[in-house]
Amino acid sequence: MGRLDGKLALVTGAASGIGAECARTFVREGATVLLTDVQDEAGRALADELGHAASYRRLDVVSPEDWAAAIDELRQAHGRLQVLVHNAGGGVPRDDLEHLSLEQWRRVQALNVDSVLMGTQAALPLLRASGEPASIVIVSSVAGLIGTPDLVAYGSAKGAVRILSKSIALHCARKGYPIRCNSVHPGFCDTPLVRALASQSRDPDEAWRHLSQVAPLGRLGTPQEVAALVLYLASDESAFTTGAELVLDGGLTAS
Ligand SMILES: NC(=O)c1ccc[n+]([C@@H]2O[C@H](COP(=O)([O-])OP(=O)(O)OC[C@H]3O[C@@H](n4cnc5c(N)ncnc54)[C@H](O)[C@@H]3O)[C@@H](O)[C@H]2O)c1
Repeated sequence: MGRLDGKLALVTGAASGIGAECARTFVREGATVLLTDVQDEAGRALADELGHAASYRRLDVVSPEDWAAAIDELRQAHGRLQVLVHNAGGGVPRDDLEHLSLEQWRRVQALNVDSVLMGTQAALPLLRASGEPASIVIVSSVAGLIGTPDLVAYGSAKGAVRILSKSIALHCARKGYPIRCNSVHPGFCDTPLVRALASQSRDPDEAWRHLSQVAPLGRLGTPQEVAALVLYLASDESAFTTGAELVLDGGLTAS
């Protein structure tokens, strides 16, 4: 028996890294999954690999029209949605106070924060539709918990979704909706995003070594470890957990 048997899930940014691993894990645990991304080829290839329980559609998370169309497709095809994972996100190079432009700041807020607001607003009626327990999981970051001089826009956005997550959780609880919402806060994990971050630095090998060892546990996290936590929050095993922020960072924020 799977931990998500019978559940319908939508994962954003599912073509790569953590989102792809969430999609794999969800299908393995019995869910039907709509993978969404802007990398259509990779998203479609993964959905094909995962078989009949998975499908792919393009969803640019900064587009209200894309959100409306994706939710409409789910409504017509299934009439329900039990799991929504806001995973798509990212930053910009040279994200420090003296290099960051206002245009870049706005782009990062749109990708990491506006997307979560828009997507949650668009999906809420469908998440409520079946009356069954539903779960929203927001992939934030340790950068949303502590200040980082090189992640000014990104950290601010990840901090904003931390509180947005709690506000969504409390709104749904107050209204009596059977919808929970929680955020997860990974430290550095081995994904294309972090490899790109290292490759943009002046000494990519040294940057990679540093990122790999910065956590007290002395290694990077894996997308599988993040997906396992997202799975817990998506499943009914976490039925009493809402408005929480769960950290997996190898001890990075412990001191
Ligand atoms: N990897 C880490 O160390 C780490 C740590 C903390 C938080 N995170 C967060 O985890 C999430 C996933 O990151 P990842 O490391 O797997 O990165 P990744 O680059 O491997 O995957 C991100 C995915 O999001 C997609 N995406 C980007 N912009 C999009 C848009 N506008 N609409 C839809 N999809 C879009 C990309 O195409 C990609 O497939 C992000 O929110 C990231 O901020 C990652």
